[in-house]
Amino acid sequence: MRRLPIIHLEPGMIVAEDILYHDCPVLLKNTQLTKKHIDKLSLFTIPEIPVCSDQDQIISILPKELVLYKEAQETVHAFFQNIKFNQPLNMGSVDQVVQDITSSVYDDEHTFFQLSSLKNKDNYTYFHCLNVCIYAIIMAKHLHFSKEDTYLLSISALLHDIGKAHIPDGILLKPAKLSPTEFLIMRNHTVEGSSILKRHTTLPEVISQVALEHHEKWDGTGYPLKKKGTDIHLFSRIIGLVDTYDALTSERVYKPPEPQYKAGEYILSLSGYAYDPELVKVFLNHVAMYPIGATVLLTSGEVGSVVSVPPDVPWRPKVKVILHRNDPSRKTPYVVDLLYERTTFIEKIIKD
Ligand SMILES: [Fe+2]
Repeated sequence: MRRLPIIHLEPGMIVAEDILYHDCPVLLKNTQLTKKHIDKLSLFTIPEIPVCSDQDQIISILPKELVLYKEAQETVHAFFQNIKFNQPLNMGSVDQVVQDITSSVYDDEHTFFQLSSLKNKDNYTYFHCLNVCIYAIIMAKHLHFSKEDTYLLSISALLHDIGKAHIPDGILLKPAKLSPTEFLIMRNHTVEGSSILKRHTTLPEVISQVALEHHEKWDGTGYPLKKKGTDIHLFSRIIGLVDTYDALTSERVYKPPEPQYKAGEYILSLSGYAYDPELVKVFLNHVAMYPIGATVLLTSGEVGSVVSVPPDVPWRPKVKVILHRNDPSRKTPYVVDLLYERTTFIEKIIKD
């Protein structure tokens, strides 16, 4: 929940508490604000209105998916803790999470894309592994992977950073630049992760290979082996790409989150250098920036869904408008092509 002055309220926001004026109710909790409500509120001398944050709204809208997401996050946390304290590993629970998340993401990728914004800087590693898994499954779907390959990619994604289990929180959560020694310890999570998976599990070889290779780069500038191009396993190339996207769009103890479109532009700028260009195309069209089907709010107040994305300019999609918040009487639907509407931008991805 956040408290906003009336001039910062927008239609569509949800009131988080009953609003009273001299003990009389003016608006009730859970009311979705309209322009009329906001105009009415401005007649009262109420300094601030409590409204649900985007995360509260997700929580109120998506109970089933949220429960699955939270359970999956707890399973990843428990798995890391068991590695850290040399406890027996519950591979069955990891397997169950992968199966549940995979089928749910296949059914409703946009919901899970939204859930991936439930990031928490203190538990970054566990949320991150789960988000990388979600993005990897969306990639697998659009790359038409077989069921077997989707399963292997998902489990590789969930466990790709397992080598961080032994890194002290003093380094993992350091809110400043790492010293050269700390930097080396951090980088070694690739070798360590691969070794843990080989020693403690009977998982297929490719899963430890991904833990080892996920920081390799397409042009050979990555680590630890400086592998290049298709010498890097396809799964490692996918996970390396979505790993960067999630890191950029997450709040960390040392930096605020980047907006999705900026993270997308960054990845596009490194297409053919750090990342496999064919995978970047699929990623920008279906995962990052504005996935087809995503509901977006435009700076003009128009709300609609993305219907197509120009491959070379993925931050300027075509949007089918279904509602004009500033002009509700406007007849819809109609299409706005952001390639030509130069003064209109996407403000954010929403789920109305
Ligand atoms: Fe990593």
